Amino acid sequence: MNGIQIVSTGRALPKQVVSNDDLSRIVDTNDEWITARTGIKNRFKCEEETCVSLAVEASSKALENAGIDKNEIGAVIVATSTGDYVFPSVACMIQKELGLNEEITAFDLSSACTGFLHGLSVARGLLPTLGKKYILLVGSEKMSKIMDYSDRSTCILFGDGAGAAILAESDNIYYQRCWSRGNNELIACKGVGEESSYITMNGQEVFRFAVTVLNQAVSQILTDAGLTMDDIDYCVCHQANSRIIQHVAKRFKGHEDKFYVNIERYGNTSAASIPIALDELWQEGRLKKGMKIICVGFGAGLTWSSALLQV
Ligand SMILES: CC(C)(COP(=O)(O)OP(=O)(O)OC[C@H]1O[C@@H](n2cnc3c(N)ncnc32)[C@H](O)[C@@H]1OP(=O)(O)O)[C@@H](O)C(=O)NCCC(=O)NCCS
Repeated sequence: MNGIQIVSTGRALPKQVVSNDDLSRIVDTNDEWITARTGIKNRFKCEEETCVSLAVEASSKALENAGIDKNEIGAVIVATSTGDYVFPSVACMIQKELGLNEEITAFDLSSACTGFLHGLSVARGLLPTLGKKYILLVGSEKMSKIMDYSDRSTCILFGDGAGAAILAESDNIYYQRCWSRGNNELIACKGVGEESSYITMNGQEVFRFAVTVLNQAVSQILTDAGLTMDDIDYCVCHQANSRIIQHVAKRFKGHEDKFYVNIERYGNTSAASIPIALDELWQEGRLKKGMKIICVGFGAGLTWSSALLQV
């Protein structure tokens, strides 16, 4: 076996919904501008919820949907840039909250919006070594805590949320590529102990980067697999901006509908965006066993990655 399979998914969102109109009351912006430039209408924002509580809720749902024995989980990997603590990791807190076996590998992975894809790559390597059947992979973000709500070009983009997936080894086809290009100028967040712990970003340059690498990542993984878009059921890209996705979808004429877009409801939830989208597809009955999908992550690092897998 050399592939992995997504056995089940789950998602969790904070209660509070923040609309574009809500944001226009705290920063100089408006619904028309945000909708036209990004496709975003609403995003969720934590009040009492934490990165851990969202991750635990999404994970419980994924476990329930999988119907597996939780003692068969050999690792918990959480992709996040906004964990509640530098340590302990969100993953360790999930082990506690879900009462998972203590003989488990549990750690967080810092890879911004590519985190879920890097988690897939790590899980694929780990699974044959664990002596257990499953890995719990989670993307959980409380992006609101690193937002400067006086910076209208960033604070309108991001939202809080979590998505989880139970992964298992599989004979199904699986291809993945990962890329890194160190850059702390286009998008960065200094974090703990620094005078500013907010995201700073050059929006136009990040947009250019995103459309270029998204197109490359989709094309390359199709070439690797010897397939074309005709063979693919869904392309689930990181939800950063609907214009980024549409820009790339246009290059795959006749297949634009396969590029899933849900950003209008969530904004950019960073590492959580892909598992949230996958969970929506599962729960709506649109994703069926045997379907072939492409997942693509891209973001700060800069990093990007694509995976072609059969669910
Ligand atoms: C951020 C982003 C939406 C800005 O859109 P844009 O079309 O590039 O807009 P610009 O930055 O050129 O700004 C155009 C104008 O809108 C203004 N503007 C910026 N944010 C605004 C807002 N929220 N509301 C109203 N006006 C805004 C700018 O000040 C500028 O005004 P000016 O022409 O008077 O100077 C877009 O660049 C983007 O989505 N980039 C990618 C970001 C991303 O996805 N990051 C995460 C990657 S994982």
